[in-house]
Amino acid sequence: MQTAATAAPRHIAIVMDGNGRWAKRRFLPRLAGHKQGVESLRRCVRACAERGVAVLTVFAFSSENWNRPQDEVSGLMELMGRALVREVPQLMRDGVRLFFVGAREGLASGMRAALEQAEAATAANTRLTLNVCFNYGGRWDIAQAAARLAAGGEAITEESLHRAMAMAHVPDPDLLIRTGGEMRISNFLLWQAAYCELYFSDRLWPDFDEAALDEAIAAFAARERRFGRTPEQMHVAAAAALRA
Ligand code: IPE
Ligand code: IPE
Ligand code: MG
Repeated sequence: MQTAATAAPRHIAIVMDGNGRWAKRRFLPRLAGHKQGVESLRRCVRACAERGVAVLTVFAFSSENWNRPQDEVSGLMELMGRALVREVPQLMRDGVRLFFVGAREGLASGMRAALEQAEAATAANTRLTLNVCFNYGGRWDIAQAAARLAAGGEAITEESLHRAMAMAHVPDPDLLIRTGGEMRISNFLLWQAAYCELYFSDRLWPDFDEAALDEAIAAFAARERRFGRTPEQMHVAAAAALRA
């Protein structure tokens, strides 16, 4: 039996939900919850790096989040812009390579430039890959990949679509965590989550600390991933891997 420490998933994806409720419980504006959410992300990035996780993908702003009140949307944009500049030195120290995943053309040009700068600055880091899904939707990703293949006259197959998608630079997620108690996908990683293990936490994102992450990793380690096979087949394969 593997322990949580040895079985840290290679790729963790997180729907960071619950910032608004965290703020509301403290009689604070929603934006205060989002600010605290950035702190929680910083802690989570470091914790994942320490645990040997190779890829962390987080949902920061969905295609549908534009429908929120204007002041919350502009507050979130500002927060993202500031975090991009402020966090780069720490990402460098922690060996984190940053990727932005989402529809860039929908963003202000200043924001796009900041994203590109942060990506370029961290491009040589290898300890942890951090994908920040921003102005992202799983349906957008499938549609943009199909459109690019069609424009190039390429056949649409599972492999070609996979290659054309915004997450082609990393393996599919192994564990998908959603905080905040809701049990839905909300248009996150629709294609890539085909076989990942789902884990729902009632903790609000700003309260999701190292202990909560370890609980999720331990739950993951106790799962049996079968990819369509039978338990018996999996046990034979595991025994063969041990002998090899
Ligand atoms: C998630 O927290 C962050 C974003 C969607 C940007 P929410 O803002 O959705 O928090 P709740 O769900 O309202 O508590
Ligand atoms: C999902 O959370 C998006 C992000 C965490 C960025 P939402 O709060 O937007 O999801 P719904 O609206 O509850 O499904
Ligand atoms: Mg929410």
